[in-house]
This record gives sequence, C-alpha cells and structure tokens, in this order.
Amino acid sequence: MTGSDVGGTIPSPTPTLRWTGDSVEIIDQTRLPAELALIDVRDTATAIGAIERLAIRGAPALGAFGALAVVVGFDEASPRSLDEARSVLERLRTQIGDARPTAVNLRWAVDRTIDAALGDTTLDAAALSATTTSDTAALRERLLVEAQAIGAEDAEACAEIGRLGREVLADATNIATHCNAGRLATAGIGTALATVYAKAAAGEPVRVLASETRPLLQGARLTAWELADASIDVSVVADSAMASLIAAGEVDAVIVGADRIAANGDTANKVGTFAHALAAADAGIGFYVAAPTTTIDPSVPSGTCIVIEQRNPDEVHSAGGRRLTPAGAGAVNPAFDVTPARLITAIITDAGVLRPPYGPSIAAALALTRGAERGAD
Ligand code: MRU
Repeated sequence: MTGSDVGGTIPSPTPTLRWTGDSVEIIDQTRLPAELALIDVRDTATAIGAIERLAIRGAPALGAFGALAVVVGFDEASPRSLDEARSVLERLRTQIGDARPTAVNLRWAVDRTIDAALGDTTLDAAALSATTTSDTAALRERLLVEAQAIGAEDAEACAEIGRLGREVLADATNIATHCNAGRLATAGIGTALATVYAKAAAGEPVRVLASETRPLLQGARLTAWELADASIDVSVVADSAMASLIAAGEVDAVIVGADRIAANGDTANKVGTFAHALAAADAGIGFYVAAPTTTIDPSVPSGTCIVIEQRNPDEVHSAGGRRLTPAGAGAVNPAFDVTPARLITAIITDAGVLRPPYGPSIAAALALTRGAERGAD
C-alpha cells in the first residue's frame, strides 16, 4: 500500500468553526475534498440545515457549533424582554438540540449554554415581562461566553486526548480509523486523530488506514483530506477491506471516536465501527475509543438505550450524485452502530485513560470532570 510522505506538521489553520463576532463561520464539509468552502451561519434555519446535511458534523464539533448557533438564533429573534427571551431559548433548545439525535454533545452543549445563561432566575411572569433591553443584552452575553467556553474546553480536551493517546499507542505505527474523528469533527485537533497528530508532532512514525465510511465517505473525504493536509501518511481502504487487513497483521491498533458512550462503556459511533472492533478482537490487537468526557452520557445505562439516527435512504442509493441501486430496491441507513464495551481495550478521555470494567472507571472520570464543573459554578 502507498500513502503520502510521513510528516509532523501542524494541521492547516482554517478552523472547522469560528465565531466571527456576529455569526459562526464553518467549513462546508459536504464540499470537501473538492473545495474548501465556508458557510457564514447567521440564522437558525441555516444552522439546522448545516447540522442535518452534515456540513458540520462529528460529536464535539456539533456541540461547539450548536452552542454558538443558540447565540445566532437568539440574535435573529432579538427578544425585547426576558420573558420573550426565555421562550426563544426554549424553542432553540428543541430546534437545535434535537437536530441530530445520537451525538450527545449537541444536546449537552445546547442545554449547558441555555441553562448557564438563564441561571436560576426565579422572576415571576410580571417581573420577566417588565425587563429591559439591557437585561436581554446581558443574557445574550452570558450565552456567548458559555458557548465560547465550550469550544475552548473542547480544544483543550482534544490536546489532552492526543497526549494520552500517544502514550497508549506508543508501539503502534499502522493505525486504522473509521469515519472522521479529527480536527474537522471537533473544535481542536480531534480525538482519535489527535493521537495521530501527537505521534507525528513527536517525530514518531505513523501511518493511517482510513476506512472510507460509506455512505457519506467521511473517512475517504475528510480523514484523508485533513491528514494529507498535515502531511501525514494516510491510505484509504474500502470499509469491507479492513477486517482482512487487520487479520493479515497490517494494522497495529484501531482507534475511533464516539458519538455517545453509555454508563457501562458501550459506545455509539459511525456505522461500521462495530465490525472493526470485532476484527480487532479476533486478531488480538487493541481497539480504542477516544472521546472527551462530554461524549459520555451517564443517563444511558447501556448501548441498547442509545437512539440511533436513521438517515435518508437516498444516501445509500447514491454516491457522488449518481444512483447506484435499481429502482424498486429499498435501502436502510442507520448512521451509527454500538460497539459493546467488552470489545473496547480502553477509552482515552481528557480525564484519563479508562479501562474495563467501565462502569466504575467512567463514574470516576465523571466525578472528576463534572464534579469540578459543579465546584466552579
Ligand atoms: O455522522 P457524523 O459524520 O457526524 O459521524 C461522526 C462520527 O461518528 C465520529 O466518529 C464521532 O462523532 C466522533 S468525532 C470526534
């Protein structure tokens, strides 16, 4: 197999998402790798459309974007009283927070932004409607501060995951991944790919096998684009080729991201992840999940309770705008699958490397991070 030359450069500076001062600018990931196009998001409909058609995607990036989209939606509505502001925010909580159901970061970030801004205001209805524009301006400021904090914290979490992941994968050179869990999927340098960037930056040899990730080809289009952009050796393989490559000893370790991690460690990630985990277990190589603790959902006891997004069958029927299937054939398009905790060697988080049994290790990590959040309140 061939790939580009190995390097250790810092990823290209165009950020995946950025607050411009009065809008959110995002890379339109539907147009990569053909074109690096940007979208200026300044209304709720554009924000929701971008989420739904995966112009912005990846659990942590959805969280960071969703939080800023609340500010955009608030500005668009420009409420004149706190009472009106509250109902605008409750509408945005549902519209933006529910735009995709599996990635928990979206719901979490939207809730965190709105709840932090509203605080524990206990004004009665009369007091709420008597408020002034300076009150709504202060509320809007609190939304923006919280939304920007979410992005900044995600960038820090990515860096820590990279640092820890590099230690965990110290002996791995040929690393397989699925979908895109890189800088395009986060507000920082990625989760699974943060490990790769950390190894490359340290001058360690690293070569990535990126499964193409049908139907929307996040691996072939996005992982390959961002790694090639950073001069990191990347080869795209058909999804169906990964198991035999693993069995043939061409892969030292598999590392993927996550959309939602249940309290017992079961992990939802891009559909096809489960198959990679089975192949890794059969070959006796490590299968790692890299995710910020914000992707853990302790309210979900196990993977069977995770809602899996079902997407439009047309995504399966077509590729590159060309119909592949005959008229009359149906298609089923689950966007994610669940890898059982028993197949996961470790979960690399910003709060440490979690090992089985995941119930206790996840609970301890959350006590550390969410306990610290509560302490800071
Ligand atoms: O449908 P997508 O492209 O949003 O799916 C993304 C994934 O499955 C990623 O692996 C996951 O969100 C982790 S991103 C750091």
